[in-house]
Amino acid sequence: MTQTAPKAAPDIAPDIDWATLGFSYIRTDLRYLSHWKDGAWDAGTLTEDNVLHIAEGSTAIHYGQQCFEGLKAYRCKDGTVNVFRPDQNAARMRRSCRRVLMPEISDEQFIDAVTQVVRANERFIPPYGTGGSLYLRPFVIGVGDNIGVRTAPEFIFGVFCVPVGPYFKGGLTPQNFLVSGYDRAAPHGTGAAKVGGNYAASLMPGQQAKDTVIDGHHFADALYLDPETHTKIEEVGAANFFAVTRDGRFVTPKSPSILESITKYSLLWLAEHRLNMLVEEGDVFIDALDGYTEAGACGTAAVITPIGGIQNGDTFHVFHSETEAGPVTRRLYDELVGIQYGDVTAPDGWIV
Ligand code: COI
Repeated sequence: MTQTAPKAAPDIAPDIDWATLGFSYIRTDLRYLSHWKDGAWDAGTLTEDNVLHIAEGSTAIHYGQQCFEGLKAYRCKDGTVNVFRPDQNAARMRRSCRRVLMPEISDEQFIDAVTQVVRANERFIPPYGTGGSLYLRPFVIGVGDNIGVRTAPEFIFGVFCVPVGPYFKGGLTPQNFLVSGYDRAAPHGTGAAKVGGNYAASLMPGQQAKDTVIDGHHFADALYLDPETHTKIEEVGAANFFAVTRDGRFVTPKSPSILESITKYSLLWLAEHRLNMLVEEGDVFIDALDGYTEAGACGTAAVITPIGGIQNGDTFHVFHSETEAGPVTRRLYDELVGIQYGDVTAPDGWIV
């Protein structure tokens, strides 16, 4: 019997209020799945089915043998669609796969899968000017019959997509964060890999932060210090951290337990080459926040979220303002988002 590939739904915009989109699951038309068995990935197909049927002994379920990615497609003013730096996500996913002993995906297969999913769900890409984008979620999971702590006999590589708005409410509105007593990753553990365990470890501290109110301050998420000395800022919820020093340098922490954010590396480049700032990957000590005029969270989902204040024990430190983004944060945001939506010239190779 010959199989016909499922077709994308007619090109009619779905019934979505683009202006109020948040970061929630919306089922889209088609997703990509490829299976690894006997040493190779198959060609992959698009499917309408958004449910995976996997073995009860799958290592992804028991031992967290999985990893994922996040990247976005943007509708430009002229109607074309930009995908931001997918080669960087492909490379990071290979590093994550290696770290948890899973077969790697080539750049070619990764970008082909992403492209197929974007094309098949084009009607879900938010219109230009709404601030929304199509969030793509690639993942690799260990599956197949197994019980021992070992690498899986089979794997699935999938890519699905969801139209999204801002991850933190209000886009460029500053958010407060609460320093957590928990670590999201161990000093020489899996923090640099995009594996689910790091995010599982952040669920409870993140909820605690959201449930906390101190002197009228609410918190969008937990802020994590380095797991070795608990003196330096590492990550902000599921995003990286950056700050601007009083003498105008752009600084972002470097540590083997931080996820290597593609947005962070993009901002390092933009701060240096477009804003002519000195940039540095270095330590930001939690007890020395007076040395910084601005701070922010950055990531594919978070984009650039200004940090209003950080609560560390009894101390609440305000950066630029609790209500407005600082000037450097704003300029970086305009450059980055301008490139993503095709309004600002992109450095070579950043847009597919
Ligand atoms: C992303 O920015 O893509 C992330 O991975 C954050 C996410 C876990 C919501």
